[in-house]
Amino acid sequence: MAERHEVPETGAAAPVVPSLRWADPPEGPAVVLLDQTRLPAEETELICADVPQLVRAIRTLAVRGAPLLGIAGAYGVALAAARGDDVPAAAEELAHARPTAVNLGYGVRRAAGAHRAASGAGPAAAAAAALAEARAVHAEDAEASARMARHGLALLGELRPGGGHRILTHCNTGALVSGGEGTALAVVLAAHRQGALRRLWVDETRPLLQGARLTAYEAGRAGMPYTVLADGAAGSLFAAGEVDAVLIGADRIAADGSVANKVGSYPLAVLARHHGVPFVVVAPLSTVDPATERGADIAVEQRPAGEVTEISGTLPVAPAGAPAYNPAFDVTPAELVTAIVTEAGVVSPVNRDGLAKLCSTSRWS
Ligand code: MRU
Repeated sequence: MAERHEVPETGAAAPVVPSLRWADPPEGPAVVLLDQTRLPAEETELICADVPQLVRAIRTLAVRGAPLLGIAGAYGVALAAARGDDVPAAAEELAHARPTAVNLGYGVRRAAGAHRAASGAGPAAAAAAALAEARAVHAEDAEASARMARHGLALLGELRPGGGHRILTHCNTGALVSGGEGTALAVVLAAHRQGALRRLWVDETRPLLQGARLTAYEAGRAGMPYTVLADGAAGSLFAAGEVDAVLIGADRIAADGSVANKVGSYPLAVLARHHGVPFVVVAPLSTVDPATERGADIAVEQRPAGEVTEISGTLPVAPAGAPAYNPAFDVTPAELVTAIVTEAGVVSPVNRDGLAKLCSTSRWS
């Protein structure tokens, strides 16, 4: 069952429909998603009443973006528990729905751990514990988002004290992917509210157009001055001196500081280095994966050829049957990253020691 909402021309920054919500009976139990495949045309709710439906929504990118995948994974475990399903099997299925964003496994583990710990008290108590943990993951992400915005804004001020930032971003990192206002886009939004944003350059982000469809949608609703560009146009923008900083999110940060993010991020880092422009990654600590030693160890999701050879799965833009290379992410080595902004503070220079130190500090500073 899907519920459709008209998209207003202008208005608040965040979509009318929350990117994800939990529904109790009688509407649920269900995880209710804003179907991101339908944006920007319409805000449609997608009701996932069981784990296979949620896994399908994750794989088709109806719900997407690293922090939100963590939240979805946690609520998915709560859903399995509320339904009386096999929770460990559901957790396994959810954790492996997509391979790169480490937050997905993080959220699943948190809720599954809470369920296991409470299982001695009976199924209802264990289900309640899983749901409470999912709500905690959700709330913590909102809090982390607000903290990242503050740290990121301070960093922008250091990089360019007079304001007037012209920021280039890639993919989508706003309220659509978060319990709060997002990661990189939350920083941009904070700069905008302060009157310090001159322009947001929005990479369209081929092949699935998360930039053109989603970031432009959020930027427009927030009243930001923004411009969409084809990914290949970024080079000439740097050459013209039109970019002061690149701000992106991350799907997984390895222990050595390498950053996996939407494919097309690494070329931006190379361009930024060539042109002497700061390349800043904004991500919660739940995106840092100390168990992944090096960037080369990060599993990069390969997606269907049709995403490249067709537009929206319908309009062919290559000969029928053309083979396609379609990695969903690429990996930027730490030496190309100027700074990583987290809720606990900023790591710069980016290296194994700096990252480990930040992760070992208490919850937030
Ligand atoms: O394939 P997607 O749309 O899930 O990819 C999302 C990204 O690459 C984002 O940039 C990343 O998750 C950071 S979101 C805060």
